[in-house]
Amino acid sequence: MTPPEDPNRILLFDTTLRDGEQSPGISLNTTEKLEIAQQLARLGVDVIEAGFPIASPGDFEAVQAIARDVDGPVICALARANAADIDRAWEAIRDSERPRIHTFLSTSDIHIEHQLMSTREDVKGLARASVAQAKALCDDVEYSPMDATRSDFAFTAEVVQIAIDEGATTINIPDTVGYATPDEYADFLTQLYAMVPDLRGVVLSTHCHDDLGLAVANSLAGAGAGARQIECAVNGIGERAGNASLEEVIMLIRTRGDRLGLHTNAVTTEIARTSRLVSRLTGYPVQPNKAIVGRNAFAHESGIHQDGVLKERSTYEIMDARSIGLDANSLVLGKHSGRAALRQALEDLGYTVDGATLKQAFERFKEVADRKKQVTALDLEALVTDELRAD
Ligand code: KIV
Ligand code: ZN
Repeated sequence: MTPPEDPNRILLFDTTLRDGEQSPGISLNTTEKLEIAQQLARLGVDVIEAGFPIASPGDFEAVQAIARDVDGPVICALARANAADIDRAWEAIRDSERPRIHTFLSTSDIHIEHQLMSTREDVKGLARASVAQAKALCDDVEYSPMDATRSDFAFTAEVVQIAIDEGATTINIPDTVGYATPDEYADFLTQLYAMVPDLRGVVLSTHCHDDLGLAVANSLAGAGAGARQIECAVNGIGERAGNASLEEVIMLIRTRGDRLGLHTNAVTTEIARTSRLVSRLTGYPVQPNKAIVGRNAFAHESGIHQDGVLKERSTYEIMDARSIGLDANSLVLGKHSGRAALRQALEDLGYTVDGATLKQAFERFKEVADRKKQVTALDLEALVTDELRAD
């Protein structure tokens, strides 16, 4: 893939089915992966990383099925920097209309010495050979110097130059262990542009993990430094604390696009559906207060907030619930709620109450709310006595 013609467009690379599936306890079968991939295509992501074909026969089968059946996005397969992995990845995606091979190898000394038990020279040689092999099979090749943010900078730049010389079209800079801070990550990319001028001719990509809760902030900082692909996963799932959350990246860019000068091609109204699907099939619940897709993300409980939102939505909402595919925001009735919300809730149930009747209902409501965490429609029905009905 060459850099998008529109210089402000961010390509969304979704790795729910690869890095996301590496979350402990998640194992999706081919049918489930296909369903998620089709939904990702409807959501408008640019690249689907469908899996790691050499990992298991099941993974190979799922990647192949996605490559054959899912139209629109680029379909990408992961491979370590060795011949067997790359051949297997190509076998799995070769039937796609838009295949990509993504190959990677660590550049940090911690990984080279303790995990690979190798040398920097070998890493350079393997980077050269693996990108050359992938390029002979597939036009679209992505290369990742794994653990880049903990690597010697000059060495990483050398490896990046080698990958570009051999034909890589996307260079991805993983913050593999979620260690970088946003300013540090942005500096890394800025310096890389300065040291490797050829980087301007390929797509620079971010891949940030959330160990310190900075995955989305780091991805955004990377985009500020010139990256035009962001790697992320639905509901932020992935190794350990997960990846940058796809829905947060999309809505951040949409909501603050004015400040960022960036945009994506995402169909935002598909976000809620995608999140629910991934949660159901992976068995990973979404925390209630999760940004964008948590069930409280568009719910208001306190009286002050409810009163404001009833008067004018923008008083306490920066996004419209409908923009992510929900019907509407919600006013949750609890002990912090006020009269305005109670009146609205009763009105929604078909009871118009005002003045002394509302005052009386409100007093009863507070008694109930003190006993119960949340007041439901049934409780409200019970509040509205015969006397109120007669009004
Ligand atoms: O976190 C990481 O470094 C990865 C690579 C395979 C890109 O997932
Ligand atoms: Zn990762």
